[in-house]
Amino acid sequence: MTDDPRIESFRFPPDFLWGAATSAHQVEGDNTNNDWWAWEQAGRVATPSGLAADHYRRFREDFDLAHELRHNAHRFSVEWSRIEPEEGRFCDEALAHYGEVIHALVERRIEPIVTLLHFTLPQWLSAQGGWECERFEMLFERFVRRVVTEYGARVRWWITINEPVVQLFKGYVIGQWPPGKQDHATAFRVLARMLRTHARAYRAIHELYPRAKVGLAKHGIASSPCNPDSWFDRMSVRVREYIFNDVFLDAIHRGSLLIPGVMWERLPAAHTLDFVGLNYYTRDFVKNTGFDVPGLIGNMCSLETYQHVAKRNDLGWEIYPEGFGHFLRRFARHGLPVLVTENGTAARDDSNRHTFLLLHLWELMRASAEGIPVLGYLHWSLLDNFEWADGYRAKFGLIEVDMKTQERRVRESGRWLGEVIRRRGLCCLLYTSPSPRD
Ligand code: FCB
Repeated sequence: MTDDPRIESFRFPPDFLWGAATSAHQVEGDNTNNDWWAWEQAGRVATPSGLAADHYRRFREDFDLAHELRHNAHRFSVEWSRIEPEEGRFCDEALAHYGEVIHALVERRIEPIVTLLHFTLPQWLSAQGGWECERFEMLFERFVRRVVTEYGARVRWWITINEPVVQLFKGYVIGQWPPGKQDHATAFRVLARMLRTHARAYRAIHELYPRAKVGLAKHGIASSPCNPDSWFDRMSVRVREYIFNDVFLDAIHRGSLLIPGVMWERLPAAHTLDFVGLNYYTRDFVKNTGFDVPGLIGNMCSLETYQHVAKRNDLGWEIYPEGFGHFLRRFARHGLPVLVTENGTAARDDSNRHTFLLLHLWELMRASAEGIPVLGYLHWSLLDNFEWADGYRAKFGLIEVDMKTQERRVRESGRWLGEVIRRRGLCCLLYTSPSPRD
């Protein structure tokens, strides 16, 4: 691992953004007015979000800890359903709240990075069809203008939409998330709408604050064939990689959405990114199941069945750091800097998070040393939180949260990351375990 001295001695630039990410519904608690809450109340997940990490009230205490861990950036999302609880009515109290959140970050010299849409939609909008609503782009743009007018003087970094293709896949292809549909035709229509929505938001933000930096958080998921000897499985890997990883960014790059054999649509989306946000976690093994669209996308196979040797996290996701390096390079192809907007692992045993961090930061250093323009690294997550359909069993936090008492405890891996930040690299830390608590 240390055979290349250029990498070992590499230092991240002093203005590199270091920190963690959260999303409103996953940490705030009592987000009673969005589609996910309704989904949970309808019994569609095993555990409802409830009070989550009570971050809505405890954000100052949490940012004190982030500051202690030397974070200089923090990504969070504003909750649309709180800010606009009824169509067209903006809530002063919620707007003031996020103003205080931003103030608390700035006060601690932590750069706010604000996500405008992280999966959840207000119930008044989901009642009108959510992403299928013809007025979606207009409604989102109005919300964005309100938020950016309010905070734009203090916030430079904006993420329009978090993981649009994941939301589409879970909500419209496998139906595991709201609105729970399995309808490919609708999914493709929504995909085009997501692109238009992003583009309109991008333009609105720049109109209000020309110096703003606007991106989206695009997930990158590595894939390999279940059976490397199967031509069909290999083909499904190619289709999946295109649809999951490339189509959205390519469409923005080209200004048109192209899914061969399915759709082509010109979109006013060209040049609507200032940076690419990368969310990276894992690799899937893919099995072809036919020649229609779902078949070509294929299914995941269980790793045991195909005897792939792999280390996995508590949610069964393979730990595959090479994929991280791959996506840093791949996303940089668009000629824009890359910001790691999420990377992390579900680990009850914190030493697994430490290993995960070490392996992924190594990839980050290699790519950066090679000249890939990386703006920053935001770990998922600052706190243990509500992991959507997986509830509370996944422990992603640099800070452990006891969900009964709401007590916080910084994990050793969190302190170790703080040490990497202090040294601006991995130098001399490659083989050390996280230092004991001072
Ligand atoms: C990403 C989501 C984030 C979190 C992590 C584990 O796909 O953006 O909300 O759930 O996965």
